[in-house]
Amino acid sequence: MSKPKILVARSVFPETIARLEAHFEVESNQDDQTWSKPQLIQKLHGKQGAFTTGSERIDAEVLAACPELKICANMAVGYNNFDVDEMTARGVLATNAPDVLTETTADFGFALLMATARRITESEHFLRAGKWQKWSYDMFAGSDIHGATLGIIGMGRIGQGIARRGAHGFGMKVIYHNRSRLDAQLEAECKASYVGKEELLKTADHVVLVVPYSPASHHTIGAAELALMKPTATLVNIARGGIVDDAALAAALREKRLSAAGLDVFEGEPKVHPALLEVPNVVLTPHIASATIPTRRAMAELAADNLVGFLVHGKPVTPLNPA
Ligand code: DGY
Repeated sequence: MSKPKILVARSVFPETIARLEAHFEVESNQDDQTWSKPQLIQKLHGKQGAFTTGSERIDAEVLAACPELKICANMAVGYNNFDVDEMTARGVLATNAPDVLTETTADFGFALLMATARRITESEHFLRAGKWQKWSYDMFAGSDIHGATLGIIGMGRIGQGIARRGAHGFGMKVIYHNRSRLDAQLEAECKASYVGKEELLKTADHVVLVVPYSPASHHTIGAAELALMKPTATLVNIARGGIVDDAALAAALREKRLSAAGLDVFEGEPKVHPALLEVPNVVLTPHIASATIPTRRAMAELAADNLVGFLVHGKPVTPLNPA
């Protein structure tokens, strides 16, 4: 019997490819070319499965052109690159890679918060540029993490991980806003109190965004929300580009209406809004919150488990839709 055909749309661990090759006829993008949509469609045509990352948009046009497609397995917990409704309508299964990256991503959220509040990258650039001549009392003075109020918008698993780090590790007062309130036991474990979004923005010293992207969460933080924040506050986005209005944020940072920001995700990434590159009080990283080798391996394995589980055994591990 011939093996099902799958496309691995980006470069991944050779062991993952080898594992997939045991079950499938695999075409892979191991030299990691950036494909246009017509190229993606051409590669995907005739395949039953796709191993995707957040960079491949699977929408109505792609689905219509690839009628043999049965499953797209995302090597990411976020799946805003999928039109899940359209996939469901066409009987295409969508899967993501939850849980395996939670703690690594929460670690990074906290690292980015600390680098931002304590001006670590800005001061390193200063030192490397040979500008350090003397000690001075206010040189790169930032804001405290310990004892500060941490506001988390989006209290899923990663948000809870950040809350635990802040409350238990740094003695922070944690407030959060979420579509729905956590149950009392989880709130107690995270030492977190539920507040409205406006109250969170007005009172937090540090705001961390961990909300999934959808049209409803587009520009969760725009000019109006930035205007509510304390001028001494910091903002960290490890969620998705588009959650923050990057142009409005750059203006707030430039005009010192906000102390500092740390961004791992951007509207239109890998492009970065040029105004953000002009301001010194922002730490910019290239979407690496889940990037440790063990975690990336676990994410790749879970995407492969979903392809094998569904196409070989008829049972995916982490389905997003009932297709
Ligand atoms: C995710 O898993 O959603 C991360 O953003 C990595 O793409």
